[in-house]
Amino acid sequence: MLRGKRILLIIGGGIAAFKSLDLIRRLRERGADVTPVLTKAGTEFVTPLSVAALSGSKVYTDLFDLTDEAEMGHIQLSRSADLIVVAPATADLMAKMAQGFANDLASTLLLATDTPVLVAPAMNVRMWQHAATQRNIATLKDDGVVFVGPNDGDMACGEFGPGRMSEPLGIVAAVEAKLADGPLKGKRVLITSGPTHEPIDPVRYIANRSSGAQGTSLGNALAALGADVVFVTGPADVAPPSGVEVIAVQTAQQMLEAVQAALPSDVAIFAAAVADWRVEGASDRKLKKSKDGLPTLSFAENPDILAHVAQLKKGRPSLVVGFAAETNDVEANATAKRKRKGCDWIVANDVSPETGIMGGSENAVSIISDAGVEEWPRMSKDNVARKLAQRIAEAIA
Ligand code: CTP
Repeated sequence: MLRGKRILLIIGGGIAAFKSLDLIRRLRERGADVTPVLTKAGTEFVTPLSVAALSGSKVYTDLFDLTDEAEMGHIQLSRSADLIVVAPATADLMAKMAQGFANDLASTLLLATDTPVLVAPAMNVRMWQHAATQRNIATLKDDGVVFVGPNDGDMACGEFGPGRMSEPLGIVAAVEAKLADGPLKGKRVLITSGPTHEPIDPVRYIANRSSGAQGTSLGNALAALGADVVFVTGPADVAPPSGVEVIAVQTAQQMLEAVQAALPSDVAIFAAAVADWRVEGASDRKLKKSKDGLPTLSFAENPDILAHVAQLKKGRPSLVVGFAAETNDVEANATAKRKRKGCDWIVANDVSPETGIMGGSENAVSIISDAGVEEWPRMSKDNVARKLAQRIAEAIA
């Protein structure tokens, strides 16, 4: 629910602006108060009249409208909101934000405020992938701007790939996560999730069956309690949580680097199924069949990310939670693992194929801590996540 929350919605000039009309409806259905700002380019795609009708509010379009200044100055306009949402956030608008330009109403509002900002980018796939845009995204993320999307898909320009604006309900979920008031408000929680892919050559890799479902559920549950979640994910089947900072990686080595860059945090949860080994000297060319026999792969050990963080002398999160995926002697193995790695809690589960847990929607876990072993009944991964998030909130309150 967003009852009583004030959202300043900046609508940029992109074809996805039509979805922002539905976004206004969805936000208002949930009780939010939406004040719309249309950029000049935005008015080419949706009319101020339809935006005003749907939002039930005056639409702000021009920095130098003196009546607006008399009613509500642009500084006050941005500061009176609980959240600023930029949807669609065009490449141009994001470049202005990253550089601190203030040459129209939207960019001035964004510069004149310390209100949290959520952006839903929408642009052509090449524009999204361009080094300049990627630099701007990195700058904005460093500045604390939260991203939702873009999604992959067919685009209005006829190309395919990342660049489509998130659907309105996805943006609403991100808004709800960002505005969640709860016991974890102001706490930073780092989560690793999904499998890692360890390359053999440019087209082959070693992976595992982790879908990323449990990690995503945890991200959503923690964000719903108000946490600022940083979600470091390998190539998962399940979409990442909404309204959290997502850092996508492929290999264990990259995951470690992303985790180190994301620290410090109050809590760190390691739900990723990290490959224990990588192929040593992975080929930069595709391996070919040869008359001389089969290729031989040699392995090198990957860094243990959980153990690294749990054993930090400086800047260790106050609560470090690991997972233990076991196929036998679950409790004994997980208890030993907790000791060996130095984490506070281990969430142990039996991933034998007959349990259907890896890749499935349910989980049966035991929580191993200083207090001993606590067995939870089998339940949905969403419920495991909610229960665990609640426990975490109680532990660090
Ligand atoms: N983990 C990690 N980095 C690794 C391996 C594992 O961060 N290189 C983390 C996982 O995210 C999980 C925990 O360590 O939280 C245990 O993972 P698991 O695969 O069960 O254990 P392993 O360390 O691989 O031990 P083993 O192979 O003996 O089961």
